[in-house]
Amino acid sequence: MLGRPAIFLTLLATHAIAWPLTTRQVDNSSEIFFDALPLSKDLNYVPCFQNFTCTKLEVPLDYEDPAVGSTHIALMRWNSPHQPALGDVIFNPGGPGFSAIDQMMKPVWLNRLSGILGGKYNIVALEPRGVKYSGPDVNCFGGNNETEQAYLFPLSLTTWADRRERAKLFETAGAFGTWCSHTLNNTANYVNTPAVARDMLHYSELLAKGQGKPCNESKVEFYGNSYGSTLGMTFAQLYPSRVGHFLIDAVVDLEDHYFGNWSQNLLQANEAIEGLFSDCAEAGPACPLYRNGSTGASIKKRVDDLLLRLADSPITAADPKSVSTPITVDDAPLRPLFRDLNYNPATSFPELASRLAQLERGNASAFDPFAIKKGSEPIAASDLYGGTFTKCLDNNKHFEGTLEAMEELFTLAKNLSPYFGEFWVARNILECRTLKFAPPPSQRLDSIKRVKTATPLLFTDNTIDGLSSSHDKMSTFFEGSGIVLQKAIGHGIMVARSNCTEDHIRKYMDTGKVPLAGIPKIQVRQGKTRVSLDGWV
Ligand SMILES: *[C@@H]1O[C@H](CO)[C@@H](O)[C@H](O)[C@H]1NC(C)=O
Ligand SMILES: *[C@@H]1O[C@H](CO)[C@@H](O)[C@H](O)[C@H]1NC(C)=O
Ligand SMILES: *[C@@H]1O[C@H](CO)[C@@H](O)[C@H](O)[C@H]1NC(C)=O
Ligand SMILES: *[C@@H]1O[C@H](CO)[C@@H](O)[C@H](O)[C@H]1NC(C)=O
Ligand SMILES: *[C@@H]1O[C@H](CO)[C@@H](O)[C@H](O)[C@H]1NC(C)=O
Ligand SMILES: *[C@@H]1O[C@H](CO)[C@@H](O)[C@H](O)[C@H]1NC(C)=O
Ligand SMILES: *[C@@H]1O[C@H](CO)[C@@H](O)[C@H](O)[C@H]1NC(C)=O
Ligand SMILES: *[C@@H]1O[C@H](CO)[C@@H](O)[C@H](O)[C@H]1NC(C)=O
Ligand SMILES: *[C@@H]1O[C@H](CO)[C@@H](O)[C@H](O)[C@H]1NC(C)=O
Repeated sequence: MLGRPAIFLTLLATHAIAWPLTTRQVDNSSEIFFDALPLSKDLNYVPCFQNFTCTKLEVPLDYEDPAVGSTHIALMRWNSPHQPALGDVIFNPGGPGFSAIDQMMKPVWLNRLSGILGGKYNIVALEPRGVKYSGPDVNCFGGNNETEQAYLFPLSLTTWADRRERAKLFETAGAFGTWCSHTLNNTANYVNTPAVARDMLHYSELLAKGQGKPCNESKVEFYGNSYGSTLGMTFAQLYPSRVGHFLIDAVVDLEDHYFGNWSQNLLQANEAIEGLFSDCAEAGPACPLYRNGSTGASIKKRVDDLLLRLADSPITAADPKSVSTPITVDDAPLRPLFRDLNYNPATSFPELASRLAQLERGNASAFDPFAIKKGSEPIAASDLYGGTFTKCLDNNKHFEGTLEAMEELFTLAKNLSPYFGEFWVARNILECRTLKFAPPPSQRLDSIKRVKTATPLLFTDNTIDGLSSSHDKMSTFFEGSGIVLQKAIGHGIMVARSNCTEDHIRKYMDTGKVPLAGIPKIQVRQGKTRVSLDGWV
């Protein structure tokens, strides 16, 4: 990212989620709209939400076994001003479990994406199975937000420090799976990534049919980041001959997702946080954690000491002038903040740095849960279940969920990231162990192979991504794929603006050619592109 230290000049409003997940507020007009939209077996797009067209498709739960019934997939399309468009780019915003439709309703984000794609493609928010506007409904609490909040609350507050605490969490997560196995029926088996990939293929076939083209040769166009990379690569593994332009950003390790334990996301987690401390030192007094003569290493040492101190002796804030209730802060609420930091450090680091600096001075008032609630973008707990089911069904019990395996995994995760490693793996894999659901044979990925896709994949990311950095490994599975990295810290290219990156992407969208196919290494530095055969120049 260019001119990174400048980010310290503005302290943004509180937005992090550390405390209980707050509930989405009353505006549910989009839910009401999609509820009322008639089901259709074809793409009957109708105008919706001012700038878009929408449709709700009936699809089989299992394309290989129509007898098990059907579900619905909600779609929202932005039509390019250049018609006829070059195609429909399906996008996925990650999670898993994030709503593609809600994401596309953010005009700033949509402008950015359509600009990056060159403006000649329509963009389609295909709501993944199990997520907000699409079926099947996998909310284990039947929409009762109080019972679900009562369950979720303890998960984000543990420090992982002692074995009893971890054992209790292990049991709590297991109880969740058992509960869901009682409250849901077998339609939950069909909420998984290969099923969404099949829905994407189906979409492209309906589109081809509408244009009078042969269905069996239709191609999918795709942009996905983070978990979206998992979805895109899954499609490319299953249907290589149907791959159109595929932009795979913030690249997850597909083997880890399907057969592992979510630890491989953390390979650059330390590098990311250390990089931010160095930037802080470089920024000088504008960074709240800077002290005279600070270096990245000295800031890190102070933060590490602070975390240790907090774990042993929590600090309180109890002055009614600064907090709405007496509070006690140990290191637990900081773990999710260190995770969140990695999504978009430019917006979250200034805030976290300021809170850490206050804590260092013994001031915990920035952790007032009521103040955090007011400032945060509300996330409905019920938005998380689609993600949980997708993760668990994809992994299909490959991670052996015993207490011993979990302890081993925590040790591994803690070594990869002392700041949020245990929190990360627990949040992502712990709830799977007692879920009594499994994908049908047609919705399993049994191995990851080297495949030749009809169009080469283009992988993108920043040089440091603390939440998924497996572009090098994954590109070896996709013949002819290319990689474009920009010099920045964060989860996916959207966190920083580089004309060089965007030029490469637009060229790819226009021609289907990746920069230097077969020699996939381009690094953007200070706006200059450097290319080498076997590494950075
Ligand atoms: C929208 O919110 C109202 C009021 O909270 C509620 O009664 C209704 O069921 C909601 N509709 C949908 C589709 O979620
Ligand atoms: C529609 O687009 C306009 C112009 O970009 C924007 O101001 C408006 O918020 C958009 N509406 C929706 C619902 O996205
Ligand atoms: C969820 O519960 C909280 C309090 O427990 C309440 O304030 C909120 O209105 C509820 N939200 C919905 C959508 O029912
Ligand atoms: C299974 O659960 C889904 C989602 O709650 C529901 O719509 C469906 O009717 C249920 N099917 C049966 C056979 O109970
Ligand atoms: C698609 O179907 C047509 C007509 O059945 C056939 O001629 C063509 O070979 C098929 N293409 C592929 C790639 O299977
Ligand atoms: C930092 O250094 C400046 C200039 O040397 C000095 O004026 C200031 O008092 C120092 N601040 C601290 C907190 O030591
Ligand atoms: C404590 O921190 C809060 C918010 O971070 C700040 O508004 C307040 O001024 C601080 N109090 C002191 C005594 O520094
Ligand atoms: C987690 O996955 C990593 C990488 O695949 C593997 O090396 C490790 O043994 C696994 N650990 C556990 C406890 O499953
Ligand atoms: C990037 O492109 C935009 C739009 O074409 C242009 O206005 C801007 O000056 C460019 N920035 C750089 C650093 O080249």
